[in-house]
Amino acid sequence: PFFNQKMDQESLPPHVLIFPLPLQGPVNSTFKLAELLCFSGLDITFLLTENIHNRLISHTNINSRFERFPGFQIKTISDGLPQDHPRKGSKYMELFDSLKSKTKPLFKDMLTSGWLSSDGKRREVSCIIADGVLGFTCDVANEIGIPIFSIRTISPCCLWIFFCLPQLIESGEYPFKDDDLDEPIKSVPGAETFLRRRDLPDFCRTGDLTDSNVQLYKTEGQENSRAYGLILNTFEELDGNLLSQMRNVCPNIYPIGPLHAHLKNKLSEENNSMPPSSNSLFEEDKSCINWLNNQLPNSVIYVSFGSIATMTKEQLMEFWYGLVNSKQRFLWVIRLDSVAGDDWKNKIPVELAEGTKERGYIVGWAPQEEVLAHPSVGGFWTHCGWNSILETVYEGKPMICWPYFMDQQVNSRFVEAAWKLGLDMKDTCDREIVEKMVKDLMMVRKDEFLERANQMSKFAKKCLVEGGSSYSNFERLVNDIKSFK
Ligand code: UDX
Repeated sequence: PFFNQKMDQESLPPHVLIFPLPLQGPVNSTFKLAELLCFSGLDITFLLTENIHNRLISHTNINSRFERFPGFQIKTISDGLPQDHPRKGSKYMELFDSLKSKTKPLFKDMLTSGWLSSDGKRREVSCIIADGVLGFTCDVANEIGIPIFSIRTISPCCLWIFFCLPQLIESGEYPFKDDDLDEPIKSVPGAETFLRRRDLPDFCRTGDLTDSNVQLYKTEGQENSRAYGLILNTFEELDGNLLSQMRNVCPNIYPIGPLHAHLKNKLSEENNSMPPSSNSLFEEDKSCINWLNNQLPNSVIYVSFGSIATMTKEQLMEFWYGLVNSKQRFLWVIRLDSVAGDDWKNKIPVELAEGTKERGYIVGWAPQEEVLAHPSVGGFWTHCGWNSILETVYEGKPMICWPYFMDQQVNSRFVEAAWKLGLDMKDTCDREIVEKMVKDLMMVRKDEFLERANQMSKFAKKCLVEGGSSYSNFERLVNDIKSFK
């Protein structure tokens, strides 16, 4: 039985309702938090939209991972959209509208009607953890008097820009007055010395105040500060400067990342043989590990642009020539859907085929965490998805950044200018620039970058052991949740 009926409500552990943003990345990260909270003895109801539930549960090991926690259950709720709605691209914002109008009343009903119990009995929710972008969850929680925490799984540097959107608009910096993307941005406290227009999230380039992204994100500051606290996937030693700015708006922040490593540590502490939950949507090609085993330490640049980013055939060729001309060894992930069309495969220039045979290895999907931890890998050319950055920081590898969209434009600037962990290639795609950056990262400035990366990696590891910042913040979160019972 899900809940032990012999125990009365008082002696039961606190019961936390977790509601992630129904998108794959946030759901994955939030599952990691849920697992950590289960290890701390809390009962969890994890709320998924029916759509995400159907897509996710069918090809992940979530159900078997959580079998060992009798106090864990998954419940579903409708996102209010028809089954065949794409929920992405130009229709993406319809998801938010529907959640707000259709899901909100269902969510409220669920919390007030006792629908949550699996044994037919009512089980009180002691607190809610919901994605901060789902502001309606705060309305409901405040209305019925249940404490609520917000969680945001994107990069805090991008979240901070969202917080600052009202000031950017008020100061007249946004929308931009002309086309000069190198113009400095002054209304983002903590980043005044290095932020440029081109480093803002890509949707800012439309210059349209009515843009649905602007409309959605410009209320983040107010929305997140309505919750009791804000949970973030970062650590003090990486984002301390920004976090102290953010605390002026949201005083109670719990930076508990890097979440992937936090959970891995917990699993090994518990001598748990369960492998960490996989982020993989595609089948991993493990043969690249054998290839890496035969390379020299720090000699390989790993290249991957995550699960969504795509490139044109022309961009593919520029990247490929740049890599081959750099004469560095490379392991490259080209997903089946990375490049539009298939015909490039039949037209690979001889010099690229030969250069790749000699020094490169291409796979459709890699076991990324294992690759980044491999001693032969000396750098990562990444699209700067937040998970990729945290995984790279943890393993102490420097980065070349080729951001694709959203938070990645911000993250890449922070990698280069705030953390000094690599080079930002944004807005260019030219074989000579690729060649130069790869050589700079892997040869010319190798020692400098590796030293910085090693230093940050030490902080990332230290913050997760007893007494470390993320470890302590997580303990504080659990204690605060328990205090609400
Ligand atoms: C998206 C957005 O792009 C990103 O900006 C946002 O911060 C989170 O959601 P995605 O593009 O997939 O995610 O990038 P990222 O956050 O880096 O996540 C990719 C995940 O896939 C990582 O955990 C990485 O380890 C994994 N991966 C990637 C593999 O396991 N193998 C690969 O070959 C490539």
